[in-house]
Amino acid sequence: MRIFQKIAVIGLAAGLGVAGFTAQAADDPVAARQAVMASVGAAAGLGGGMMKGEIDYNPAAGKAAIATMNAAAATFGDFFPAGSDQGNTGAAPAIWENADGFSAELAKFAAAASKAMEASGKSGPADLDAFKAAMGPVFGTCKSCHETYRKKN
Ligand code: HEC
Repeated sequence: MRIFQKIAVIGLAAGLGVAGFTAQAADDPVAARQAVMASVGAAAGLGGGMMKGEIDYNPAAGKAAIATMNAAAATFGDFFPAGSDQGNTGAAPAIWENADGFSAELAKFAAAASKAMEASGKSGPADLDAFKAAMGPVFGTCKSCHETYRKKN
């Protein structure tokens, strides 16, 4: 494993650890959902790096990236209680103004991630093409949700 790959995998493991503790952070839903999205960002960095050929493809790393997406998609929607639109958050008011629309984006993310999880089998997508086929639709959901439900900087 090259150093860069090691860093990516360690970063991802740290992201997963954070996602695992979100239940304890429920009294700070903004921090919890940002931690979940940070794990998504780490998984996207690893997955995108492999897709671009910057990181050698490895089925276990592919599966770790997909599993992180799947875990995040399952919990992310739990951290948007009324009133958590205030403060240091990138969450757009549209989340609360159009809750059904936000739920629909969450459902697309969860469906793509769970399908990728199924496709990755026991030891991860066998090769880069299989990984791209599984992860591509998950990546497609980032922009469509962010466009409406994340504040633009
Ligand atoms: C269902 C909607 C939704 C989907 C799907 C989604 N995001 Fe997000 N994302 C958000 C929202 C909302 C925020 C802002 C959260 C906040 O600051 O409270 C955010 C924030 C982020 C952040 C900043 C996290 C931080 O540290 O504050 C990153 C990175 C990110 N998203 C990456 C991604 C990537 C990559 C994908 C696709 C694989 C993705 N997101 C899919 C809604 C979504």
